[in-house]
Amino acid sequence: MGKRKIGMWLYKNGGGEKIAKKIIKKLKERDISVLNDVNLRHAIAKNEHIIWNDKKLDKLDLFFSYNAGEQTQYQMYLYQALNRVIPMINSYEAFALTEDKFQTSFLLRNNGINTPDYKLCHRDDTFHLKEIIKKWDKMVYKPTDGWGGVGLTKIESEANLDMLLPFLNQMDLRFFYVEKFINYDNTDYRIDIVDGKFVGCYGRKAGGSDWRTNVTSGGSVFLREPNDEVVDLALKAAKVCGVDIAGVDIIYDRDKEEYVVLEVNGIPAFATPEQEKMGLDFNDKKIDLIVDLIDRKTKKEK
Ligand SMILES: Nc1ncnc2c1ncn2[C@@H]1O[C@H](COP(=O)(O)OP(=O)(O)O)[C@@H](O)[C@H]1O
Ligand SMILES: [Mg+2]
Repeated sequence: MGKRKIGMWLYKNGGGEKIAKKIIKKLKERDISVLNDVNLRHAIAKNEHIIWNDKKLDKLDLFFSYNAGEQTQYQMYLYQALNRVIPMINSYEAFALTEDKFQTSFLLRNNGINTPDYKLCHRDDTFHLKEIIKKWDKMVYKPTDGWGGVGLTKIESEANLDMLLPFLNQMDLRFFYVEKFINYDNTDYRIDIVDGKFVGCYGRKAGGSDWRTNVTSGGSVFLREPNDEVVDLALKAAKVCGVDIAGVDIIYDRDKEEYVVLEVNGIPAFATPEQEKMGLDFNDKKIDLIVDLIDRKTKKEK
């Protein structure tokens, strides 16, 4: 029986390279070898094979894809094809879902998981948008495929919306996705989940007068103990989305007095070396759970 072999593509910045080394070492101890740095950008499909560096990726036992969230259409296209023939972490289907905020919110809400109230309407349906702002008084326009808080726009009045519409119309969007603006304390919970198990938690706080907690928007990370309610919510959200690995972002709605899931991230970053110094100590647990998961998913029958 052949030895197990997987492909891996993990981000390199923020301590990623060191994490990859640890994963490779631990997999080796279980007799699983790793083809590393497999960027599908450099792969080609040829008849029944997907070939990278003269290696047939379709012959691997599994592919672990953990790089930048925003992949190109080409990478996503091959991700999709490859996952038809070998297991991937995360699965293409789950990853594609979490890359889209509307699809994720819709599925979560349909499964009874709290999210901010949202509406999606056709780009020509400005009538609907105006009705919404009358009812909600504050809302957030969000690109459904964004990250890092980029492109989020707070709309605080009908006049505000009227001013913004010409710009939005110029952007050639297919639709508008808007969320009710949640009255919260400008902090969130990031809950890391692997294989249906809680891994770790930290908080983020928006910087200065910004209402977004993203580090790229000036937010900062702090140590935060989770409570059972947020952990439970994160576990449920990850399960509904079908992601093996998830980082679930949660905030507390002060008006409704309940926690809401803001988004499910399919490639949540490991703690960076600086964050580890701060006391975020979940990396080893996360690595162990990922190694266990890969081991289990590549177990050959017999
Ligand atoms: N409906 C909302 N109400 C209030 N604040 C929000 C809302 N949605 C997002 N935010 C803030 O904006 C940040 C970024 O939003 P998010 O949906 O996570 O998009 P991104 O993918 O860009 O991180 C969140 O971390 C949160 O601080
Ligand atoms: Mg976010």
